[in-house]
Amino acid sequence: MICSFHPSLLFVFLAAAPQLKQMTVPTRVDEGSKLTVKCEATGNPLPTYRWFKDGNELKKSKKVRIKNGQKNSRVQINRARVEDSGNYTCVVENLLGKDNSTGTVHVQSSEYGDGEGAVLLSLYTPATVGPLTGGTAPSMWR
Ligand SMILES: *[C@@H]1O[C@H](CO)[C@@H](O)[C@H](O)[C@H]1NC(C)=O
Ligand SMILES: *[C@@H]1O[C@H](CO)[C@@H](O)[C@H](O)[C@H]1NC(C)=O
Repeated sequence: MICSFHPSLLFVFLAAAPQLKQMTVPTRVDEGSKLTVKCEATGNPLPTYRWFKDGNELKKSKKVRIKNGQKNSRVQINRARVEDSGNYTCVVENLLGKDNSTGTVHVQSSEYGDGEGAVLLSLYTPATVGPLTGGTAPSMWR
């Protein structure tokens, strides 16, 4: 007997539940600058993407852009504000299953000086805490 593949059989062989491969989340973003959160997934059929922020589904708007590609999706906010801080969850789903991943974004207020102010602050900080002892770096230098 000659072996032949029926299309639906081929589908069964290749079908796979979605799996998140990578999620790119900036841990810190300066207020007013661009915030991009991205996730990438595999799956067959190609999974759909949905985004949640602090448990609420994110919808496209003037401010929030959601760009879906075949293998990834990204959320983009051109001018991030402090209230855009929070937990961003990417949910991928196809008929075989779903997967999700969450990352935390912290949008930092520029209220206390960006540019020169921040540089001055970092220059003067060691002097006020005494000589550097070679311990852990101040968190603002991470
Ligand atoms: C984000 O998740 C962390 C860790 O689960 C939690 O402690 C924090 O309260 C969450 N933040 C918000 C705004 O829900
Ligand atoms: C993410 O996955 C966990 C564990 O499977 C599940 O409990 C949770 O409800 C999922 N979250 C979303 C937003 O789908």
